[in-house]
Amino acid sequence: MGRPTDPLPVVVHAPEAFRAACDQARAQGRRVALVPTMGALHHGHIALMTEARRRVGPDGLVAVSVFVNPTQFGPNEDLARYPRELDADVARCAAAGVDAVFAPSAGAMYPPGDQTRVRVAELAGPMCGLTRPTHFEGVATVVTRLFALAGPCVAVFGRKDYQQLRVISRLARDLFLPVEVVGLGTVREPDGLALSSRNRYLSPLDRARATAIPASLRAARALYARGERSVIALLDVVSQGLAGSVDSVDYIDLRDADELTLPATPLPDGARAVLAVAVKIGATRLIDNTVLGEPDGTLR
Ligand code: PAF
Repeated sequence: MGRPTDPLPVVVHAPEAFRAACDQARAQGRRVALVPTMGALHHGHIALMTEARRRVGPDGLVAVSVFVNPTQFGPNEDLARYPRELDADVARCAAAGVDAVFAPSAGAMYPPGDQTRVRVAELAGPMCGLTRPTHFEGVATVVTRLFALAGPCVAVFGRKDYQQLRVISRLARDLFLPVEVVGLGTVREPDGLALSSRNRYLSPLDRARATAIPASLRAARALYARGERSVIALLDVVSQGLAGSVDSVDYIDLRDADELTLPATPLPDGARAVLAVAVKIGATRLIDNTVLGEPDGTLR
């Protein structure tokens, strides 16, 4: 992705240095945009960086954080094997025109004596919260810390992690943080599979099986477009689409798109409802979603 001529972003590891770089930019009248990531950057992340640049303009500061956040992983999850490739990520950021990369250590983000956690209550409960009960507390905590350091006016996240986006939007609102949280449409492979740093864990056979995920969401959208509003029927079509292709289903759920509460069935006219799935293919857990009741240009 990177070319030798791309100007390298400033890379900082210490939280104080990151705060100083963002403060300095603001003092110069520049707007600051933040793209929080865990690295192993792919085209989905690049789209977030491009959107961040679009929002703060050529003179703004676009910062990307690269941090595999330990507090959002459960005890039996993939923290140890999560890909870490900072040099390649910095080159990808350079090619995307990023100004600053913040790559702290775990000890810097969670220094000795640290006791504070951020918990968003109801939104974190269903869906991924059922099998990953501490996940969103870890996400909310690290994102709040990143916001506190960078003081961005805008932060860009992917809609593939739909529940995460809702949790982060709510924490920014509840804590009166002066940041606009932007959700960008999922970037997909040509066959529809949502880009994810975890796709690289899939064997070629498992990768082929994973196309059942977008295909099942597409089938539900088609059924919805034909007028079906029964929640059970819409969930069923996804379940049938996944059967035989995935090894297990964590959840298939249909929820109010804003509050993630259970919607009425049949879905009322004008309702927006997120249809979300989490499945395992081999040892790899993959998630995806689409919002019924609004266009989804990524799932055609
Ligand atoms: O979506 C991710 O990559 C992570 O959950 C985030 C938002 C960077 C927090 O660690």
